[in-house]
Amino acid sequence: MAVTSASLFAARTRGDVGAGIADILALLGVPDLISFAGGFPDPRTFSRERVAALLAELADAGEVNAFQYAPTRGLAGALEAFADRIEAAQGRRPAAGELVVTSGAIEALELVGKSFLDPGDLVVVEGPTYLGAIQAFRSFEADLDAVPLDEDGLQVDELERRLARGLRPKLVYTIPDHQNPAGVSLSAERRSLLVELARRHGFLIVEDVAYRELGFAAQAPASLWSLAPDVVVQAGTTSKILFPGVRLGWAAAPAGIAARLVSAKQTTDQCAGAFGQRLFEEFQRRGWIDDQVVRSRALYESKCARLLAALERAMPPGAAWTTPRGGFFSWLTLPDGASSSDLAQRAAERGVGIVPGSLFFPDGRGDESVRLSFSLVDEAQIDEGIARLAALLAG
Ligand SMILES: Cc1ncc(COP(=O)(O)O)c(C=O)c1O
Repeated sequence: MAVTSASLFAARTRGDVGAGIADILALLGVPDLISFAGGFPDPRTFSRERVAALLAELADAGEVNAFQYAPTRGLAGALEAFADRIEAAQGRRPAAGELVVTSGAIEALELVGKSFLDPGDLVVVEGPTYLGAIQAFRSFEADLDAVPLDEDGLQVDELERRLARGLRPKLVYTIPDHQNPAGVSLSAERRSLLVELARRHGFLIVEDVAYRELGFAAQAPASLWSLAPDVVVQAGTTSKILFPGVRLGWAAAPAGIAARLVSAKQTTDQCAGAFGQRLFEEFQRRGWIDDQVVRSRALYESKCARLLAALERAMPPGAAWTTPRGGFFSWLTLPDGASSSDLAQRAAERGVGIVPGSLFFPDGRGDESVRLSFSLVDEAQIDEGIARLAALLAG
């Protein structure tokens, strides 16, 4: 018998996790593709010169921490810097025991899954939701139930109805700000109701704030974690405001839960990379992240406006799309009967990358929708890419 026999694979790998994210990352390497596919930051936002200068400075100063293993919870300086940033952005400072530095937000989700989910446990997600979260929770053999979204984010009243009918989730995963993939944000009223439901029904909210700092204008409503730090685990990332190459993020949670996450982290990566932690700490201290965030917001706002104008101009009657107020994404609903998986295939042949909507649902729904990411695509190519999509829909 060959040792690669599928019968040797663990049961948890047989869940329908699929190659979703790997397939999207692979699209990055396709030449001349006009890609609305990945949720990647624009490389023009990366502060290359500052990184180069900082690395030279650290090396010259005989810095050791950046090159060494770090404590599992994180380097003291990085923990301080994260607490500073969270306090400035959210109005509440995590206490020392409430914070863990992670290798990106995806690791925070993985650690939550590892710490809370037994096979068959129920996780409520938004429909649609972040593909990586579906994959992370599925890998622990959890059952996923998707509650719909609208322009004001998760339909919390629908969640309330399902809870009243006996739904008993352990976790409710939400992306309240500039959601991936729908580009919508959770209203302030719904945030209050959601945390009240968590307290009443005894589930934990997993709040993913990946795009929170990338709002185009108005201040975001209070984060769920700042409203209810007793029932929320917040997963955050520096990928969209610094760069993803260092794989860095955080989890903020009640101290008892944070301690569990630190335990779980010992057998994923032992510690987040010290290099990235030191870079982040210095960028934060020197105000360089704030500079970058200001430039990023303006860049993404202008790309978003260009995308919305192109959609308005080109899309056939019956198509509809969300109007993001930040982040990277708009959610396009195709005219009657059109299939996004079919469109994605034909678009790829015409040199345009999109991700079909069904990838963002745990139950195969969503084929009538498409995620359009405007963050990476060259501004000058947005019109051409949307015109090609529209022509495919018309033909
Ligand atoms: C909603 C959301 N959460 C988490 C992540 C992952 O972030 P990280 O790069 O920190 O793992 C992404 C990245 O696309 C995302 O869109």
